Amino acid sequence: MLSRMSVAAVPIVLIMMAALVWAPTPAASQNAAAAITFHKDVLPVLQKNCQSCHRPGQIGPFSMLTFKDTRPWAKAIKAAVVSRAMPPWFADPRHGHFNNDRSLTQTEIDTIAAWVNNGAPEGDPTAAPPEIEWPAGGWQIKPDVSVDLPPYPVPARGIVEWERIAVPAPFKEDTWVTSVEIMPGVPAVVHHMCFGFQKHKATTPYGEYQWMEVPRGEDGTMTKPDGTTTGPRDGVVLTRVAGTTEVTRRVGRPTVYHEGTNEFCYLPGLPFEDYRPVNAGMLVPAGSDMIVSLHYTATGLAVVDKSRVGFTVTKTPPAKKFLPQDGPEGDSAPVERQQANATLAIPPYADNHPGPLAKISFLKEVELVWFRPHAHVRGKTVRYTLVYPDGKEETLLYLPRYNFNWQLTYRTSVKIPKGSKMLVQFTYDNSTANKYNPDPSKWVHYGGQSWEEMGTPNMGFLVDREADEKGFLVER
Ligand code: HEC
Repeated sequence: MLSRMSVAAVPIVLIMMAALVWAPTPAASQNAAAAITFHKDVLPVLQKNCQSCHRPGQIGPFSMLTFKDTRPWAKAIKAAVVSRAMPPWFADPRHGHFNNDRSLTQTEIDTIAAWVNNGAPEGDPTAAPPEIEWPAGGWQIKPDVSVDLPPYPVPARGIVEWERIAVPAPFKEDTWVTSVEIMPGVPAVVHHMCFGFQKHKATTPYGEYQWMEVPRGEDGTMTKPDGTTTGPRDGVVLTRVAGTTEVTRRVGRPTVYHEGTNEFCYLPGLPFEDYRPVNAGMLVPAGSDMIVSLHYTATGLAVVDKSRVGFTVTKTPPAKKFLPQDGPEGDSAPVERQQANATLAIPPYADNHPGPLAKISFLKEVELVWFRPHAHVRGKTVRYTLVYPDGKEETLLYLPRYNFNWQLTYRTSVKIPKGSKMLVQFTYDNSTANKYNPDPSKWVHYGGQSWEEMGTPNMGFLVDREADEKGFLVER
């Protein structure tokens, strides 16, 4: 599905260098190829770059834990790595540095190709690296605490609007959370699932799904594309008590609502947030709620989804503190975002339409630790450009081929001075050349469903915990 995407992105220089380094005599190269075996040479690459998805219970369609599991797929593996379709990774290597870059080096690709060309031999099992101990029960992290979300019946057909539900967080006292994982029950129907923490309000009901009525025409298109599908606006609020099917309508504002619902998300390719490697955490006050935003996709089969959320926690306050972009930080919010979503209007057949530019102003010095750009099926490219206070510009992330099927997080570490601005530009392809395009003859406006469009420039930030607590970073 991702074929050929990054072949063009490999810098020519790298290929030339690789060719120079890898120009042994034919005899020597044959001997080298003959010596390449699964256990000694291939398994270490699979462990590092493939097994996180390609093992039982994960999203990869087959397991690469053992020789027996892997061997039947040898030819497909070679094709997938040589075309750089696998592992999924879309960042243009000319910009930015990403510490979760799982793309293979040319040497690793050559090793796998040579192994396959040579009959994919097993080799000596004692030459294998130790097995990786993957967490049990389908988790990627080993949670200290977990929460079960209420079972959700997903219909076989129809549009399921984004819904929100409040669930009490599982912490009795103020708690430093160091990693978070949302584990979908039925990944095929979970379009996304996100949540943020919020201090419990007396007006927030538990166990009740709430969503806003979205006026739609007969073909499912929003008839009032005003860009406010997620806001706390007045409108028709629909509610349903978990475990029941009766839907109640009322005019007003939702009572299950929170600005920072995107703090933690499950999206395909985005399994978890882990702040342990950077000695950071997020302080969750006692008595907080999790405001969960759910978006299910009907797949033709009615199922009941039972998703779970897991956390690791620490008693020792970490050195750095995580601040989400749209968090409930009030006066100490790290950034201010401006984006005229309501003006998004992609003409029929437009093959390279720029969306409204997002401008994010930095109100304090932060360490930028991740990007998670989000668009839908017509998303084509996205570029994050940092403008420093002195006017200097730098591209920190460029995705030349955005792919809706992979909502990846690009992890980095960039110190951003106060007074900087991030400009984020998405482009869209509404032409027939976009194979994911459901209907090129339609105008496309802002909206939460995948045939509508968005261009959300999500980012995550760290600040020094002590300095932040003393208010050093807050002056505005
Ligand atoms: C982030 C998760 C993820 C990682 C990491 C990953 N894969 Fe995949 N892989 C998938 C998923 C999901 C599919 C099925 C959908 C698709 O083909 O894109 C897949 C499909 C494949 C296929 C089948 C393609 C076909 O012909 O149908 C091969 C082969 C493959 N992966 C090899 C690899 C190899 C080799 C690596 C490591 C170098 C790797 N993958 C890393 C998730 C992953």
